[in-house]
Amino acid sequence: MSFPQHRPRRLRQNPAMRRLVAEHELSARQLILPAFVREGISEPNPIASMPGVVQHTMDTLKSAATEAAERGLGGIMLFGVPAVRDATGSGAIAEDGILNRAIAAVRAEVGDELVVMSDVCLDEFTSHGHCGVLDAHGQVDNDATNAIYAQMAVMHAEAGAHVLGPSGMMDGQIAAIRQALEAAGHTNTAILAYAAKYASAFYGPFREAVDSQLVGDRRTYQMDAANRREALVEVELDLAEGADMVMVKPAMSYLDIVADIAAACSVPVSAYQISGEYSMIEAAAANGWIDRKASILESLLSIRRAGAQQILTYWAAEVAGWLNEGKK
Ligand code: PBG
Repeated sequence: MSFPQHRPRRLRQNPAMRRLVAEHELSARQLILPAFVREGISEPNPIASMPGVVQHTMDTLKSAATEAAERGLGGIMLFGVPAVRDATGSGAIAEDGILNRAIAAVRAEVGDELVVMSDVCLDEFTSHGHCGVLDAHGQVDNDATNAIYAQMAVMHAEAGAHVLGPSGMMDGQIAAIRQALEAAGHTNTAILAYAAKYASAFYGPFREAVDSQLVGDRRTYQMDAANRREALVEVELDLAEGADMVMVKPAMSYLDIVADIAAACSVPVSAYQISGEYSMIEAAAANGWIDRKASILESLLSIRRAGAQQILTYWAAEVAGWLNEGKK
């Protein structure tokens, strides 16, 4: 008769023992809620491909922000859906543009109880759906786009955003934004750079969420899913240009990238669990193929385990509710 010399199962024998040795856990403060606000609607508009997520009215957005603060979330990331779009995305830099108004309204609502973040990108505002303006050949014009991002950034800071999230993947966008913020006296506005943002098929439902007009793809600016080491180049540049925090996006298919970046730099690293990740789990759960709550928690814990300190997730408020419930 021989016996195993080592019995790792000892430390898994009951919930109390497992709790004692757990290496990672979720907490509400690490979760950031992405939220969409749509101009010109009087009722929230459900997003069919993201069951449970809506395009908010200004009023329901404010309630969502209050709830997020009450539940102890880390932050809210705001996206605007304008009523009209044009080639240059001029709604993004209009004083009364939907996103600028939403930032001010949310900040007035939550003060410093919740970190208010805003998406600095043009794709929701352009008639062609690209993240920047186009040159004479129909290509996204990097430097002309940066000049607009810089203006957007200053307006968001003025409206009260604590953190700006540039998501357009233009070269030099962090430098352009940082310089504009400093010049305008917004020395305290933080930048969460979408440093490693990949061209992903899993953004599908988001395109519905913001009524994207995009034809084609974003492969000339977002990263190629084939590349791993290149993510470190993007992170190094963004940090050198003045980013305070970096993000990886999407999350679940890019956990190696999250781990690499967490190991390579010392700033907070976040990951964005995107629309397609949300919809896949919701769809499988709705069919009874997976346990919804367990799958959501496992997906988030896996992202934490890979090394993300913060997670943007459409389940942020619901999960915070579960976590707070567990504490009682
Ligand atoms: C671009 C942007 C996108 C997302 C966030 N910011 C879409 C894209 O790059 O096509 C995707 C978010 C999601 O899928 O949940 N401003």
